Amino acid sequence: MTHIFTDDWENIKHFQARPDDILIATYPKAGTTWVSYILDLLYFSQTRPDRQTSMPIYERVPFLENKKPNHPSGTDLANSLDTSPRLIKTHLPVQLIPKSFWEQKCRVVYVARNAKDNAVSYFHFNRMDSVQPEPGDWNSFLQNYMEGQMAFGSWFDHVTGWWERKQSHPKLHYMLFEDMVEDTGREIDKLCSFLGLTSTAAEKEQIRRQSQFDNMKKDDMANYSSAIVMDFKISPFMRKGKVGDWKNHFTVAQNEQFDVEYHKKMNNTTLHFRTEV
Ligand code: A3P
Repeated sequence: MTHIFTDDWENIKHFQARPDDILIATYPKAGTTWVSYILDLLYFSQTRPDRQTSMPIYERVPFLENKKPNHPSGTDLANSLDTSPRLIKTHLPVQLIPKSFWEQKCRVVYVARNAKDNAVSYFHFNRMDSVQPEPGDWNSFLQNYMEGQMAFGSWFDHVTGWWERKQSHPKLHYMLFEDMVEDTGREIDKLCSFLGLTSTAAEKEQIRRQSQFDNMKKDDMANYSSAIVMDFKISPFMRKGKVGDWKNHFTVAQNEQFDVEYHKKMNNTTLHFRTEV
């Protein structure tokens, strides 16, 4: 962890969830913003259209454990939300989630992305976001990633930890980035049934279109262009949005080493990812 995500720990630990809160949980770079954007539109595009045009996504969906100097903390932003439900984002591994979310039996939407594309996206993000640890070169970043030496720890522990929790917490919807890319409309349908939403086919189609990569990239309330800690000259937040970009980064040797590690760490799980669609 970096101190940015631990400085507010007492408030995070004692955060009071409400029964209708929806927690959007991910390992960083798995498609958090995409799913947050869709959920915000599903809930509020009809009743609160002003939100989409005037509030950046990181205010509409506060990042619970975020505590950047000179910014309101994630817990403060969440506590000042005037919506029902409140949409709240977290990257915490499952064992660190404030216990009130479980006590209140909140709905959780977890999004996971295949390890290779996730690593590439995280590498570019750490290059451009000044509050993230320096990534170093791609090879050393990848070694650290395999060892779990990352803010929020190991990708392997994160995705499998949440997968296991799904078995005991029925209100957890586990989504895959690759499924979203393959058929966003189908995944929006699944989200609606999980959330008990009765959006019309036309509303869902509008949200599907609006949330496509090119549209979100143009939307200043979704593309993080107002986040001063990010340097888009190094790499944009909405970078490529693809499955399989890892092939442009991994050497043959890195890929072989990664596959061996992957097999060791993911041998005992029923969770499976696609690295191309
Ligand atoms: P890339 O860096 O591979 O482009 P997060 O929101 O968890 O930080 O994830 C960011 C990643 O999701 C980035 O991946 C970003 O481009 C991708 N992303 C965001 N919105 C997307 C969309 N509408 N369609 C496809 N990918 C999207």
